[in-house]
Amino acid sequence: MDGRQEKGPGTAGGNATGFGWALETTLVHAGRVPRAPVSTAMPIYPSTSFQAPTPEELDAVLGGEAAGYSYTRHANPTVDALANAVAALEGGETAVCYGSGMAAIDAAFYAAGVRAGDRVLLSRDLYGASLNLAQGIWGEAGVETVVEDFGDLDRVEAALRRHAPRAMLFEVLSNPLLRVADGPALVALAARYGTVSIVDNTFTTPLVCRPLAWGADLVVHSATKYLGGHGDATGGVVVGRAAYRARLLQYVKLRGAVLGPFEAWLVHRGLRTLAVRYGRQCDNARLLAERLDASGRFARVVYPLLPHHPSRALADRILGGRGGAVVTLELRGGREQAFDFLRRLTLVGSATSVGDVYTLCLYPVMASHRNLAPAERARMGITDGTVRLAVGLEHVDDILADVLQAAGTD
Ligand SMILES: Cc1ncc(COP(=O)(O)O)c(C=O)c1O
Repeated sequence: MDGRQEKGPGTAGGNATGFGWALETTLVHAGRVPRAPVSTAMPIYPSTSFQAPTPEELDAVLGGEAAGYSYTRHANPTVDALANAVAALEGGETAVCYGSGMAAIDAAFYAAGVRAGDRVLLSRDLYGASLNLAQGIWGEAGVETVVEDFGDLDRVEAALRRHAPRAMLFEVLSNPLLRVADGPALVALAARYGTVSIVDNTFTTPLVCRPLAWGADLVVHSATKYLGGHGDATGGVVVGRAAYRARLLQYVKLRGAVLGPFEAWLVHRGLRTLAVRYGRQCDNARLLAERLDASGRFARVVYPLLPHHPSRALADRILGGRGGAVVTLELRGGREQAFDFLRRLTLVGSATSVGDVYTLCLYPVMASHRNLAPAERARMGITDGTVRLAVGLEHVDDILADVLQAAGTD
């Protein structure tokens, strides 16, 4: 651990981190290696095993009595640097990295103590693979999944009372309709009923929400998205109190869901510019949403800060003035126009991720919501004309021009 972090200057300020620094400062400095006398950049330690100066020291490291490194599946300095940085950003006591966001979610369920005979409570708006993980893999292991509308606090409370779930999982900003969850209220409800609350903060990032400060037990990230930010590394992180560390580490050691040092390095490098990238992406998204909405050329423009979005009031309260970097559109012409739109995009790529420096467009009916029946999609508010834009760092005028020409409205 870098001594500078431990002795971080005690700056005041609304967004000071656990080290007393503002988030922007923490992004640039958190997680640097100890005794790095030459390299100004974080080194990559690709080593699978590490030598100790003496057998006694290696014995102590392997026995868990001393901090240090023995084998990369147990711990690696480059991966730890990223974990420390994300822990600092989220204000958590500990963080452990995994090979993907899905592995992180799986590890969070494990760390929460979920086991056969338990129930887990999941938000209906959750990322599809998270629902499939719970219903499929955990379901086969004897865990029952209860799915509820997390926009309705009364229903969530009723589910907590009735099912006494071991853990619950939700995202603050839903995908692709960008409904905002009342995170602080949901976390408080979970605590009241003794349920471990897990918040997926992938879409919102610690720049918008820091769920541990609400009292959440665990925060998960797909680091593949905004944390890494360049579309070139897959990873995941779980952050929480120190009490969870043993199980979070046990998972990575025994399931082997390891994040590679190079991927950790890429994500950590991306993290240093998160404030700049995400800030610009949110600004671009807001401008784009406002202009597309004003154009009157779409059946619907979805963005939480637009006055007609159903979560507008919650967005103001929970998201602190930012609306995230995703804009969802409904094309009037349904599936035919959606395919035409994807074909005609030139600047914007047609691909399935968010958080990259370039703008990407996803067609939920073909990708994220493919496995749902049309009626179920309709119930969720997703139609054959719905397309999702994950807004990047290009100039907003260029994104706007591409979207308008692709919609055939120029
Ligand atoms: C909100 C959210 N959580 C988790 C994941 C899973 O992350 P990964 O693809 O890194 O496994 C995704 C992937 O799209 C996601 O959107």
